[in-house]
This record gives sequence, C-alpha cells and structure tokens, in this order.
Amino acid sequence: MKTVVVTGANSGLGLYASKHLLQKGFMVILACRNLQKAHQAKKWLLKKTKKQAVIEDQIQIAQLDLASFNSIRKFCKALPTNNLYGIICNAGLTYSTPTRFTQDGVEETFGVNHLGHFLMVNLLLSQAQNLQRIAVVASDAHNPEIQQRFPAPHFDKIEDLAYPNDAQVTDWEKEGSQRYVNSKFCNVLFTYQLEQELKKTHREHVLVNAFNPGFIPGTGLGRNTSPITHFMWFHVLPLFSRFFKAIRTADESGLALAQLISDVKVSGKYFDGIQEKPSSQASYDPVRSQRLWWRSEELAHLKINEQIE
Ligand SMILES: NC(=O)c1ccc[n+]([C@@H]2O[C@H](COP(=O)([O-])OP(=O)(O)OC[C@H]3O[C@@H](n4cnc5c(N)ncnc54)[C@H](OP(=O)(O)O)[C@@H]3O)[C@@H](O)[C@H]2O)c1
Repeated sequence: MKTVVVTGANSGLGLYASKHLLQKGFMVILACRNLQKAHQAKKWLLKKTKKQAVIEDQIQIAQLDLASFNSIRKFCKALPTNNLYGIICNAGLTYSTPTRFTQDGVEETFGVNHLGHFLMVNLLLSQAQNLQRIAVVASDAHNPEIQQRFPAPHFDKIEDLAYPNDAQVTDWEKEGSQRYVNSKFCNVLFTYQLEQELKKTHREHVLVNAFNPGFIPGTGLGRNTSPITHFMWFHVLPLFSRFFKAIRTADESGLALAQLISDVKVSGKYFDGIQEKPSSQASYDPVRSQRLWWRSEELAHLKINEQIE
C-alpha cells in the first residue's frame, strides 16, 4: 500500500489531510511529537473513515520532534521506507513570546518550520527508493504582493534566522509574525531548490510542490498568540468560514493537500489549494534558495552520505 508521512498530523490541517489520504486508500504515518495526541488522532481518524472501511493497520504512529536533530535522525532510521510514496511537511508553529530554541539551540520557528523538515526530507530521500511526492506546507503570508496582514520576509543572513539577536526586539508579537513569515518564505525557497537538487541527482520523478492552505482560523497555530488574537482565532473567526470564501476549513484545505499527493503531475510549483499560482517574486531568486540550501546543510550537520543520492 502506498504510504504517506504527514508531520504534525495530530491536529488542524495535518489531521484532515490524513483523513482524506486514508479515504483515497493510502496508508498514513502520523509523525507527531506527542504520542498521546497521535493516538487520539488515530482514534478520531478511524471513526471518521469508518465508511471507507479503513483498518487500524492503515494508520501508523511514529514519534518525531522536529525541534531535535536527534529525534529526526531516529525517526528516519526507524521508518520502513519500501512503500514510502509521499511526504507532507506540514508541522508548523508561531509564537509571540521571547525566543524559544530547539534542542540544538536554533530559534524554534525557523528550526521546526524549515530546518527540521529540511533534514528529514534529505534523510528520507537518501533511503526511500520509491518516493514520488513531496508537499511542503507554506503560506501566502510569505508574499507581500498579495498579503498585507503580515510583514514582508526580511533577513540578511540565514544565520540571523537560526540565531536571532534578541537585544534588538521591542515588540514580541511583531517579531513572532516576522519570524513566521520568514520561515514560510524558507518553505517556498526550499521547495524550489529541492526540485533543482532532484534534477541534479536524476530523480525528476519525485515531484515536490509548495502548498498554501489559505486562512484557517481555529487550528492549533493560534495557541501561542496574544490574548486578543487567541480569542479571535479560536472563538470568532471560525464562525465566519461559512460566509467568507477567504476563510477556509481544515477539512477543505486538507482535501486539497491530499490531492497534491494523489493527483499532481508537476514539480517545483506553488499551489493555493488545488490552484497552481505564482509565489512572491523574491521566492524565485535562485541565489537565495541555493544559499538557504547550503546553510541549512551546515546548520543541520547533514553529512555527505546522508544526502540525496
Ligand atoms: N491555520 C492557518 O491559517 C494556516 C495558514 C497558512 C499556513 N498554515 C500552515 O499549516 C501548517 C499546519 O498548521 P495548522 O494551522 O494545522 O496548525 P496546528 O493545528 O497547530 O498544527 C501544527 C502541527 O505541528 C505540530 N508541531 C509543532 N511543533 C512540532 C515539533 N517540534 N515537532 C513535530 N510536530 C510539531 C503540532 O503538534 P503539537 O500538537 O504537539 O503541538 C501540530 O500537530 C503549518 O505549517 C502552518 O504554517 C496554516
């Protein structure tokens, strides 16, 4: 059975994408940092897919903390990769408090949203011979040409993302948004560079695309925000999804994300739901994406024999 790894599959978009993948007949590996939440998610998924006669074995659970290189390496080593068909890099976070770090001392937004996935994908690519699809969950938040709610991505060096200077921060809510937007910009750069790397290593059959799920209030993403944003995110905005097209549900975006694994025929593109569209102009800069790739290799201590072959 074709298998898809979904990171952060215990809630929000990842949970619903898993549901739709199961309904399409895939086996799903819920790659989660919290095993208790993963088991609850499995129970929920079995209930929701009863009609499709999804069996227990079709849902596997694996522990993965993207804020730890050690955990990522352990996860990849233990994963049976013979039937691994797809990877969804979905897990993500944002926060508006003073800097939090991964176990390896990297700022957490960059560390989890980009660097952890970068390492995981490289490790899995070097061992999964039947891998065909990769979807990287990004966000229109990276694109100042269409999105005014967020600041434009901005950083001088990749090192500044990994090891930011807190002394310069005066407003943690603003800084949290900036870091989130930067990390989502990295998701898009990573997708485009990965397509290039796959070409260089003659693995064009592995299709990689970035995905914007749209605005989905009510998911866990809003949990570490200021009290006002928190209240709006969880209690007010979800009520409007029926009336405003701009507000999507985790179910509809989860379906679009599952389709990006099951139906896509192109690579190196940006999808808004099921619609292919351009990402920001800045994201097409090959120098920036190449630089991000090289620096990420160093930051994640990726060894030559661990890379795509
Ligand atoms: N919601 C939106 O409006 C929106 C818009 C654009 C893009 N996105 C993107 O969509 C993706 C999913 O977000 P969501 O809205 O569904 O939020 P969510 O419900 O909070 O889901 C995020 C998932 O990431 C997991 N995660 C966080 N840190 C992790 C770590 N260190 N290791 C492994 N997993 C970790 C969380 O696990 P725990 O439950 O254990 O914390 C959770 O399962 C993110 O990449 C986000 O940037 C969301």
